[in-house]
Order: sequence, then structure tokens, then C-alpha cells
Amino acid sequence: MKFITVDSYEKLSRKAASVIAAQVVQKNDCVLGLATGSSPVGTYKQLIEWYKKGDLDFSAVTSVNLDEYVGLDGENDQSYRYFMNVNLFDHINIDKAKTFVPDGKADDPKLEGEIYDARIKELGGIDLQLLGIGLDGHIGFNEPDSVFTKETHVVDLHESTIKANARFFENEADVPRKAITMGMLSIMQAKKVLLIANGANKKEILEKAFFGPIDPRVPASILQLHPDLTVIYSEN
Ligand code: GLP
Repeated sequence: MKFITVDSYEKLSRKAASVIAAQVVQKNDCVLGLATGSSPVGTYKQLIEWYKKGDLDFSAVTSVNLDEYVGLDGENDQSYRYFMNVNLFDHINIDKAKTFVPDGKADDPKLEGEIYDARIKELGGIDLQLLGIGLDGHIGFNEPDSVFTKETHVVDLHESTIKANARFFENEADVPRKAITMGMLSIMQAKKVLLIANGANKKEILEKAFFGPIDPRVPASILQLHPDLTVIYSEN
């Protein structure tokens, strides 16, 4: 594991964007696993800037996102599909038909999970998976539990996650209580994993996740077993 500490969100974003850019340059038809939340916004801005300068070409890239709220469709401005369009896809030359986000409106979420995993497999797996980390150690929406779940599945969001994500909604009551998330298998099978975190409030969970025991009650701790993991952290 490479644990890199930087002293600003700007530096974190630039470093993370460099790792993603290197992946796209090395393999123009790579599969990027992408994440939402506030942490990757600066990374996406930097990628957009390099694309606009002519330094990056996303035309052959495929993306698979980690998660989506159950009950929200892609038009809903709180959905993760919408987030991805606004923060990245609308500004680069990626083919939207090759950008995948779990369907939060699927009639049969279990089947949707199976379809999602089959698609990732069919694509040959993920070349580079970008992750944030929740205050309770969740990655994607894999919440603390007594076991690690392999497959893409529906989860009940924990109270602390609902509270943390309420900042994006008008009222806490509007935050969906369920989400569909990629499981640990697709994440762990990604060839490279890049986890980014910023803010002093993430320090404690990072210590637990990367320097403590591997424990499903701290979901990100499983990443200690990944052969190519980079963590970039900025306290500011
Ligand atoms: C959400 C997402 C996670 C993300 C986490 C942390 O719960 N489902 O994938 O990592 O938030 O978000 P932030 O980067 O805003 O702290």
C-alpha cells in the first residue's frame, strides 16, 4: 500500500487526477471505476481541464460507478447518475452509452445487481477503481456489517451515513434509506485501487481502516489485502 499525505485538497485532486490520466493514456480503452461524494469533485475538475487542453481522450473509455440511491432515477438531481453527468461526463468526450451506474429504479434490485456484476465481468474487470471513504469506513455504500458482501447488492444506509449525506439534500428526511452498491469482489478485483480522502474528520477512520485489523465493521479495511492500493489524504 502507498499512503500519500499532501497538504491541500488541490494537491490531492491533482495527484489523483494524474493517476487516472496515466491509466487512460496507457490504455485508452480502459475500464474506470468511478465514485461520487465531495472528495472526487476536484479530481474530476482537473481531468476536465486536461481534456479541454487536448491532453486526454476518453472516447474509448468505459466507466462503472460504485453505487446509486434506490428510488432515484438519473434525472433526479440527487442521483449519482446526475452527479456523474454534471461533474464529469457532460464535459469530456466519453461515450455516455459506455458509462454505467447501477439503476436505482430497477424493479428487481437483486437482478440489477446480478446484471451489473455480469457487465463488469464481461468488460474484463475494472482497471482502476477510484474510491472515497465514509466516516464509518464505508466504500461505495458497503456499510459496516458482520460480513463483507461480494456481489452488487441493496443496503440499508446507516444513520451516520444518512446524516453525513443530508448536506446534499434539502432535508434529512429526503435522503433515501436504501442504496444499491457494488460489492467487495469487483472492487478487490480491480487491477488498481485509488482511495482519496480529505478533512481532519477522516483521520481516525483512515487509521482504523489502513493500520488496524481487517474487519467488516470497518469495510475499507479489506483494501489492505489489495496488491495495488494507493491512498491519498489531505487533512485540509
Ligand atoms: C457516499 C458515497 C461513497 C463516498 C462517501 C464519502 O456515501 N456513497 O462512495 O465515498 O460518500 O463521501 P465524501 O467524499 O463526500 O466524504
